[in-house]
Amino acid sequence: MNGQRVNIGIIGLGTVGVGVARILLQQGDLLKTRSTLTFHLKTIAELDWNKDRNLDLSNVKCTDNAYDVLDDPEINIVVETIGGYEPAFSFIKRALENRKHVVTANKALIATRGRELFQIARENGVDILFEASVGGGIPIIKGLREGLIANKIESIYGILNGTCNYILTKMHKDSVEFEDALKGAQENGFAEADPSLDINGTDTAHKLTILGSLASNSIVSFDKIYVEGITGISKLDINFAKTFGYTIKLLAIYRVFNGGVDIRVHPTLVSDSHLLSAVSNEMNAIFVTGDFVGNTVFYGPGAGERPTASAIVGDIVDLSRDLLLKEGQKYCNRTINPTADVKIIPIEEVTNRFYLRFFTLDKPGVLAKISGILADYKISISSMVQLETHERDNYVPIVLLTHEASEKYMEQALQKIMQFEFVKENFLRLRIF
Ligand code: HSE
Repeated sequence: MNGQRVNIGIIGLGTVGVGVARILLQQGDLLKTRSTLTFHLKTIAELDWNKDRNLDLSNVKCTDNAYDVLDDPEINIVVETIGGYEPAFSFIKRALENRKHVVTANKALIATRGRELFQIARENGVDILFEASVGGGIPIIKGLREGLIANKIESIYGILNGTCNYILTKMHKDSVEFEDALKGAQENGFAEADPSLDINGTDTAHKLTILGSLASNSIVSFDKIYVEGITGISKLDINFAKTFGYTIKLLAIYRVFNGGVDIRVHPTLVSDSHLLSAVSNEMNAIFVTGDFVGNTVFYGPGAGERPTASAIVGDIVDLSRDLLLKEGQKYCNRTINPTADVKIIPIEEVTNRFYLRFFTLDKPGVLAKISGILADYKISISSMVQLETHERDNYVPIVLLTHEASEKYMEQALQKIMQFEFVKENFLRLRIF
């Protein structure tokens, strides 16, 4: 490090990169007062320099070659904000091998290739921080890693995707159609470049993988997590849920269970009396229970330029304090133990309450047959609604809420029910929280 000055290079000047540049250029005095360090945005690598980003970059080296950042011996910290798997992985690897600290918001990469990256960081005596990868501006990773370090984490659950929460909120409160709500999320810069990653639950699962790994201090295998997205949710279901006193949310759930962890992502009916039901639009909320602290809640903007950039700069300052250590002093390793694994309990071994919505013919015996199958599988109904139809095909929506039941039995019962000729194919099964 050059005196008390920290040189920073950014790779990727999209929504998040712009936010990071803006903070570094505008908040230098504040950051210096709080950390005693001077943060110098030295270089930005970006392929498209034609966009107007409303930034004064006259004192910044602008390049289209990422290696001008990665191989510059004066740069202390590399910020990767291009997202995706490649070339992001190769760039981060190179930066770590050149003994530069790295800060990234790349949840997909940390969730799927974190083990390799943490290993490379350890071998090179540097760190890779990723606060912005989960919960946008909410300091949930620092919360788990530092504030709650004294606790065994018993459970984490919450809303981790701003785009899905925005869509579900608009459908619930403003009766907007799914596609229009998604457009709104894209226009606001919340959605991923490929928004199917948001709506099919993958983005939430990436973030849950990271939180679960931090909570268990071992690597959670992303591909073993049960994931369902929100594409099957219609306004009809949102209205049914309302009738029963629930709001539909895409939930990420982690809990220590049966000698392993129960970890999953799916749309869930949340009671209107639960705080989570009031978490609207792009806001995220994460409930964490630790054995000493008890229940805690982290809430805030889960996406967007400014909150995400706020989290990234928090990591930059955090890492810069290491740079003040003298040569030979041990750096403080903040990543997840890359050599430990955690056992994931398959969803079939879990129980839940369920919301079931069928379209069936309106004729005698239909309900008796469905409830008969449920009874065969020890599934008890707690509420039921059937609407009259005004459609010519005479199919009516029927919704059943159940008491706690086995996931395995529910799957088997549904397979049987779907064989009845009076049931249409497009049923929906949701869990109730
Ligand atoms: N697409 C993500 C979301 C961005 O909507 O939450 C923040 O990770």
